[in-house]
Amino acid sequence: MRRKLAAGNWKMNGSLAALAELDAIAAAPAGDIERVICPPAPYLAAAAQRCAGTPLEIGAQDCHAEASGAHTGDISAKMLAETGARHVILGHSERRAAYRETCASVRAKSIAAHAAGLAPIICLGESQSEREAGAAQSVIARQLKDSLPDSVDASFIIAYEPIWAIGSGLSATPQDIAEIHSAIRAGLTARFGSRVATQIRILYGGSVKPDNAAATFAARDVDGALIGGASLKASDFNAIVAHLAAA
Ligand code: PGA
Repeated sequence: MRRKLAAGNWKMNGSLAALAELDAIAAAPAGDIERVICPPAPYLAAAAQRCAGTPLEIGAQDCHAEASGAHTGDISAKMLAETGARHVILGHSERRAAYRETCASVRAKSIAAHAAGLAPIICLGESQSEREAGAAQSVIARQLKDSLPDSVDASFIIAYEPIWAIGSGLSATPQDIAEIHSAIRAGLTARFGSRVATQIRILYGGSVKPDNAAATFAARDVDGALIGGASLKASDFNAIVAHLAAA
């Protein structure tokens, strides 16, 4: 059985004072749902210290593929792990677009993250024009193939985030989500075998809110969510977690 996961992506939002939201998330009942919040890098250590001894885990939003070196402004996976982070989001579409991150770079980062003991949350998603052209499945299949290393284990997490649904208020329909998630599961099974493929969690992301969470989590093969805007307020995040626990 895959443990359900609610991951919050704060993006470049929040502040030291906003880490108080973590207390309200950590204290909320969550059943057996695993919860992770990914604040901006400068707050990771404070966030991890704040959540130590609680079930709430902390994750990062990106890492460099190399362990150290002349990479001004970058942060290695090992450094993230030292802050107390346990997860790292990789290949988010905002980074793929703004920094031209390729699938090959996401793949290399995921290898580094795994070696440092971080669970990689690898994001895949098609654009609006790709969906309208009927290419969503093929785009996701290619991203899945090229963004994952040749060997994975149960710590790897996939997040399907259609680009047109991120921050737009437009969420994919449960049928769209189920179709893509089942294609991802099939792709994982074909490549890695069913034992590992059935252990890997597939999250949906893109305008998940308290009022659409129940419908989203009712879709087949949805193991949780990657939540942007609605993870900034503990009350919204906790409401989504409650829907996930009830699904
Ligand atoms: P959103 O962001 O929930 O604000 O759409 C999701 C994400 O980009 O991870």
